[in-house]
Parts: sequence; C-alpha cells; structure tokens
Amino acid sequence: MLGNVLSWDQTVFKNGEMFELDYVPEHFRHRESQIEELMFSIRPAMKGMRPVNTLCLGPPGTGKTTAILKIFEEIEKHTASVIPVHINCQVNNTKYEIFSRIFQKIYGFTPPSSGVSFKKIFEKIVKYLIEKEKVLVVALDDINYLFYESEVNDVLYTLLRAHEVQPKARIGVIGVLSDIKMQYQLDPRVASVFLPREILFLPYTQDEIHDILSNRIQYGFFPGVIPEDILDKIVEYVESSGDLRVGIDLLKKAGLNAERRASKCISQEDVNEAYESSRSVHIQHAISSLGDEEKVLLRLIAEGEEVRAGALYKQFQEKTNLRYTRFHEMLNKLDATKLINTRYSSKGTRGRSRLISVKNADDILKGLRD
Ligand SMILES: Nc1ncnc2c1ncn2[C@@H]1O[C@H](COP(=O)(O)OP(=O)(O)O)[C@@H](O)[C@H]1O
Ligand SMILES: [Mg+2]
Repeated sequence: MLGNVLSWDQTVFKNGEMFELDYVPEHFRHRESQIEELMFSIRPAMKGMRPVNTLCLGPPGTGKTTAILKIFEEIEKHTASVIPVHINCQVNNTKYEIFSRIFQKIYGFTPPSSGVSFKKIFEKIVKYLIEKEKVLVVALDDINYLFYESEVNDVLYTLLRAHEVQPKARIGVIGVLSDIKMQYQLDPRVASVFLPREILFLPYTQDEIHDILSNRIQYGFFPGVIPEDILDKIVEYVESSGDLRVGIDLLKKAGLNAERRASKCISQEDVNEAYESSRSVHIQHAISSLGDEEKVLLRLIAEGEEVRAGALYKQFQEKTNLRYTRFHEMLNKLDATKLINTRYSSKGTRGRSRLISVKNADDILKGLRD
C-alpha cells in the first residue's frame, strides 16, 4: 500500500528542485539588458580596476538576485582576479556578519565568532586583496535590511573608502533594493562616495511571465502535467501580484495537490487551493525577518484600522517602552518590506500626518501566528 503511494511513477515532478525559490535557473531570459548593464559595472574589475558602484532597483520577484547570482557564477568560472561575494542582508544584517562572510569567501573559513575584532577581519581582507592583486565585488542584496539597523552607512563607508586607507585596495559595491520608492537614508559623507549607477528591474509582462513559467514547466514537470488554460490562469495570478515567486510556488503546490489526488495532471482546483498560501509566500518571507518588537508593532497595525503615527506610537510605547526614533525606524522597515501601507493625510487643522494601515490583515495575522 505504502509502496504504491510513494512509487516514483505517481509523481508529476520530473525535476522538483526547479520549483524551490532558491533554485538558480539555467535559462534566464528577459533580463538581457540588465545583465548587460551589470557587466558594464563589473567589467573594469577584470582589468584590475575598481568596479562601478551600482544599485539594482525593482519590486520583489523581478529577477534581481538571480541576475547577480548568474553573473557571479560566470565571473567565478572565467576570472580568478575578481572575487564576487553575494550577501543576503536579510540573513547577514550587521557589519560584523557581512565582513565575516567576505572573509569566509576569501579564506574559506569563518573567523571565530568572538575574540576577533572587526578591525582585524577587515585588515586581513584588504591585505589579501592587495597581496594577491584581486578585486572584490560585494553585492549587498536586499540592502534595505541594513537601513533600520543604521548599519548601512558603516558598511558602505568601510567598503567604499578602503582605498583611501589602503590605496591599492579595489572594492566595488552592488546594492539591491526591493522598493523603488524608498529614498535612501544615507549619511551625506557616505552618499558622496556612493553615487551608484541605477539598473531598473521592472515587473515582467504577461508574455514574459508565460515564457518563464513555461520553461520551468518544460524542465520541471513531466509532459502534459499542466494544461495550457491552467497556465494562463497562473500567469494572471502572478501578474496581479507582480512577483514571479508566487508563480513558481503556485506550480509547486498545485503539483503537490495533484499528487495527493494521485493525478498526473494539475486541475484548476489544485491551483485554486494552492493560491491562498502562495499569495502569502512573500508575506511569510518578510515576517520571518522581523525582530520581536517589530512583530509587536506589525500586530498592532494589523489588528486596528488605519491609524495616525502618533496614536500608534502611544499604543506601541505602552507595550514596549521604546523611543520614538526606534519606532520610526521600524515603521520604515515595515514599509520597505511592503507589509504595511503608509501615506500622508491631506493637510488638516493638525497639519499633515502619516497614516498607517496593512493591506492583507488576515494574511499578516496568520503569518504572525505561524
Ligand atoms: N527571467 C527569469 N527566468 C527564470 N526564472 C526567473 C527569472 N526571473 C526570476 N526568476 C525566478 O523567480 C524567482 C524570484 O526571482 P529573484 O531573482 O529571487 O527575484 P528578486 O531578487 O527580484 O526578488 C526565483 O525563483 C527565480 O528563479
Ligand atoms: Mg532577491
């Protein structure tokens, strides 16, 4: 009985890992111009020059991370003189962690987590670059996670002014930011050295989404698993959220639903059932990055109606006793991750005030419970 349920020929997945969100696809189309632009920034590094600092901008699920990983893969294959380091700032969000990652990439082992000063780690990195004549390219992915910690100024300042301390150190930065509207909150002294070229990643068009998902389906599922009209429906779902992740996750979950029915073909029902949870994939993703106090704040917002920042702070302070500046930083972080909406009221007797609300209160409260 069990053998039957688990037997290989029951599966719709030819290559299931292709539906994991961290899978780096072999075929990466519709981002040719962005890849070209990124190469333009990095190319000087291959000639021993400092790379051009760059900022990739675009909403979630538009291929920013994948573009960088693909390029870094190529660089590692073809040049030994450039060291590309991709840093997920959601995971490594302090200066110390970031430089530990760079150190690890260079030396192949992590510096001890205590007892070694940041200064030592940084000196060793720079020493290596100079002695071996290597150029370092650091991608700070989802750099917005450094903003609330105020670490961003420190990290950028250290990386970008390294050559002033050590004239032969060659380091370039590629920032990745998931929110086009977010203004950077950099120190003037950092802003004056970080004047990045900007590369835009706009949401994929319907045809592009269709093409990308078709490709994933072709290699990831057995033939005939997804009827064309059902794919069209999935493309619609993806387009409405603007996030390709929703589509890939939807394919995976719909495929699992079909398998549960012991069917070799995904039905509309399998997709509909999966949609609820796929839609909240980016919500869960974002919530998992929050600290306890940020979760308290998010819950307050999700449980209430649209609220003025001042009134919200009063409620928040009762629970946490935190200062307004911390509260303000947290609001900005929640705003950047698109978990909340903020807007300014039209000018009333009390002047303009910031109004805060959530888009999907139910999804968010559920995400906070999980
Ligand atoms: N052009 C593309 N071709 C194939 N897969 C893509 C493409 N763009 C994005 N993806 C896939 O969509 C998901 C989200 O892409 P990602 O690069 O993580 O987006 P971002 O970093 O902009 O949020 C990933 O699973 C990735 O494999
Ligand atoms: Mg990304």
